[in-house]
Amino acid sequence: MVQTEEIELPLIDPTIKGQILDTGVMGFSFAPQVIFGYGALNRIGFLSLFLKAQNAFIVTDAEIEKLGFASKIQKYLEKSGIRSNIFNEIEPNPKEETVTKGAEKYKSTGSDIVIAIGGGSVIDAAKIIRLIAKQGGKPSDYDATKSTIMAVHESLPHQISIPTTSGTGSEVSIVSMITSADKKKEKITILGYPLISTIALVDPQLTLSCPPKLTASCGMDALTHAIEAFISLRINPIADMFSLQAIALIYQHLRKVYSNGQDVIGRINMSLGAMIAGMAFNQKSVGLVHACSHQLSAQHNLPHGLANAIMLPHVLRINKKVSTPQYVTMASAFEISSNGSDDEIADKFISEIEKLNKDIGIPSRLSEAGVKESSIDSMAEKAIKDISAITNPLQPVTKEMAVSAYKAAL
Ligand SMILES: [Fe+2]
Repeated sequence: MVQTEEIELPLIDPTIKGQILDTGVMGFSFAPQVIFGYGALNRIGFLSLFLKAQNAFIVTDAEIEKLGFASKIQKYLEKSGIRSNIFNEIEPNPKEETVTKGAEKYKSTGSDIVIAIGGGSVIDAAKIIRLIAKQGGKPSDYDATKSTIMAVHESLPHQISIPTTSGTGSEVSIVSMITSADKKKEKITILGYPLISTIALVDPQLTLSCPPKLTASCGMDALTHAIEAFISLRINPIADMFSLQAIALIYQHLRKVYSNGQDVIGRINMSLGAMIAGMAFNQKSVGLVHACSHQLSAQHNLPHGLANAIMLPHVLRINKKVSTPQYVTMASAFEISSNGSDDEIADKFISEIEKLNKDIGIPSRLSEAGVKESSIDSMAEKAIKDISAITNPLQPVTKEMAVSAYKAAL
């Protein structure tokens, strides 16, 4: 009989390049199935039939519905003999009660597939509608940051996710963020492989109507995903390839699509960059930028991408202590000259992000977005407990670090 032995992993100094191998095992999944292409929305009927759907539940928000995307989907589905209902009540930073209402409607309409069309809030909400409809309970029962969480274990109904912005990567991720129903308005993080969409149907044509402000904040969310994944504590060289490519694509095209929303080539490249940035953070998670920005969205209702964009340079300065080598690598994706010391190149990389923010109309200070100094203490308290802080390269993430990031950004 073969004896199995415990393998002792070598201890890795966490200060080396700011990275540790947390389990000694690397995973990478390409799920969901990706269908990507300009005009690919017209495949929705075929794809739904492929998944044996008969009655679709289309989750969206009122703005997207006004653009006619949901009714267009209905027409395609009709041609394939598939019935459908539209639920258009998802708000930015979706609330627990809205998601619960959606789950009830999903069940009462006898639906058998969810089709989410919208930004990250819509796609996140749709994931949890499936979860609650199938497995019961309320979203807060599944909060991954609580020790008493209900595991996501059911095989959920199929979901086809169709992003209308280039940003969140929610169409390819296992994560969903919902705002709690209690008065504290905390963010609930729910994650698990069963939540992942069955198909990500990415049609850059749908992003042409995305207004400049939203284009800017979503693009910076995607850039933050790629950067935070790249410097994350987890080691995953496959995901790093995705991050670097995403950083290059977003850097080359974000200014263009901000100034001209009809730039088709720019929009295609931004859709691609945001999607593969989502694939990278789905493997390596994010860090202190997201830990801080989640509190800004929960307490001040700041759009997620805007909060990330403002926090990003300030958190990068804090993490520079351990992440300079990675900043130098990412600087090459920004086409920053390699002349100078690593320290200088890392500084140029951070300055270039500030320049990009300025060029696309992102306010440089949190105070311009209505954030008051008095809220920093309570936000910092929550930020260090946020699930995103676990993979921040500089550890431990202390309250002082979070306070100094917020103050620097104020
Ligand atoms: Fe994000």
